Amino acid sequence: MNSHRRGTGSTALVAGVVLAGMAWSTSLVAVPADDWAALRTGDEVFRAACATCHGARGTGVEKSIRGFDVDPPDFTDCKFTSREPKNDWVGIATEGGPLKGFSPMMPAFGKVLTRDQIEAAVGHAKGFCPERHWPPGEFNLPKALYTGKAFPEDEAAWSVKATVEEPVAIIGKFVVATRIGARHQLEAAIEGGAQQVDVEHDDGTVTRRWGEGAADLAVAWKSVLWQHLPAGTIGSVTLDVFLPTGDERDGFSDGIFKFEPALAIGQIIPHVGFLQLQGGAELSTDTSRAEHVVFWRAAVGRTFRRDGYRRAWSPMVEVVGETALADDAPVEWGIAPQLQIALSRRQHVRLGAGVLVPINDFESRQLELKAYLVWDWYDGGFGEGW
Ligand code: HEC
Repeated sequence: MNSHRRGTGSTALVAGVVLAGMAWSTSLVAVPADDWAALRTGDEVFRAACATCHGARGTGVEKSIRGFDVDPPDFTDCKFTSREPKNDWVGIATEGGPLKGFSPMMPAFGKVLTRDQIEAAVGHAKGFCPERHWPPGEFNLPKALYTGKAFPEDEAAWSVKATVEEPVAIIGKFVVATRIGARHQLEAAIEGGAQQVDVEHDDGTVTRRWGEGAADLAVAWKSVLWQHLPAGTIGSVTLDVFLPTGDERDGFSDGIFKFEPALAIGQIIPHVGFLQLQGGAELSTDTSRAEHVVFWRAAVGRTFRRDGYRRAWSPMVEVVGETALADDAPVEWGIAPQLQIALSRRQHVRLGAGVLVPINDFESRQLELKAYLVWDWYDGGFGEGW
C-alpha cells in the first residue's frame, strides 16, 4: 500500500478535513463533491476523511501534528472499539461529536459523504480492533426490569420497587458492575428499604408495623459463553452469591448463604426487535429457613431511534415466573409492561420504569411498581454528554 504517498487531490481533501475540524460545520461543505464521490472502500474513505485526526492506524494523531487539544480515541483498543453499536458511530460521523455530547473537533460528514461511505469508514474504524472475542455493542440490549442481561457491563444502577397496597414495601437497590477482560463481568449489589411486617403476639393477635433494614449483599460473576452477530445471539452464565449480611429481624434476610446460577440469552430479531431470556435457580443452603426457588423470565421489545442513532426509547413486555421447590408451592406468573428511555445525549444514562402485574393468585399478590436509573460509567461521567 502506498498510503503515505497520496496524490494532490487527496492532499486537498486532507487539508479540507483539518480545516473542517477547526470549523466543522461550514468548511467541510467547501470540499469539492467530486473528490469525495470517488471514495469507495472503507479504507479509502477512512484515509481521506478520518486519518488526519484518527491516524492511518486508528491510534490517533499526536497533538503536535493535529494541532488541537481533544484526544481522538484509540480505535485499536478493543475494550473501547467493541462497545458501541456501529450505528452510533455512523451517527457521530454523520452529525459530528456534539450529537452525543462529544467535542465539535469531531466533525460532521453527513453533507459530504454518503451514508454508504460513512458506514464503510466506520466499518474500517471498527476493524482496528483485531480481536473477535469482544462481544459487539449491538448485543447491549435494553435492560429489562427483571430479566438479566447476557451482555457484560461497566455500569452503576439504582432501582426502586414498591407495592402500593398493604403490606407496603419500598425497596431500593444499588448495583455496580465492571467488565473483566473481553467476556466477563464482576458485580456487587446491595438492597434495602422499608416494609410492613406482621407481628404475632402471645395472645394470638397480629399487629402490623414498619420494619426497615438492609437485605443480603450479593456478589455476582458473569461470563459470555458464546456470541455470534450474524445470528444475533449472545449467551452468558451468571452465578450470584448472597451473603447472609442482611437484617433477619424484619424479614430482609433468611440468614443463610444462597447461590443463584442462571443462564441468560439475548437474541436480536432484525427489523423487529429483541428477545431476552433468563432462567435459573436460587439455591438455599438451609431449606428449613428458605426453599430452593426456580425462575424463568422473558423480555420482548423493540428500540426506536430516529435515523437509527438518535435518542433511543424501548418499549418492552416481560413475562416472569417462579416457584419454590416445595410440595404444593404455587407457580407465580407475572407480566410487566415497561419503557426504557435514554436520558443523556450520549445515551449512557437511561431510565426504565414499569409495573409487574400478577397473572395468577390475585388474592395473595399485588402490583409492584419498579423503576431504575442506569449509568454506563465507561462512556463518560454522569454529568457529561447531556
Ligand atoms: C478534525 C479531526 C477529526 C476528523 C477528521 C475525524 N475525527 Fe473522529 N474524532 C475526533 C476527535 C477529537 C474525537 C474525540 C471527541 C471527544 O472525545 O470529545 C473523535 C471521536 C470520534 C468517534 C467517537 C467515539 C466514541 O464513542 O467516543 C468516532 C466514532 C469517530 N471519531 C469517527 C470518525 C470517523 C469515522 C471519521 C471519518 C469519517 C472521523 N472520526 C474523522 C477528531 C476527528
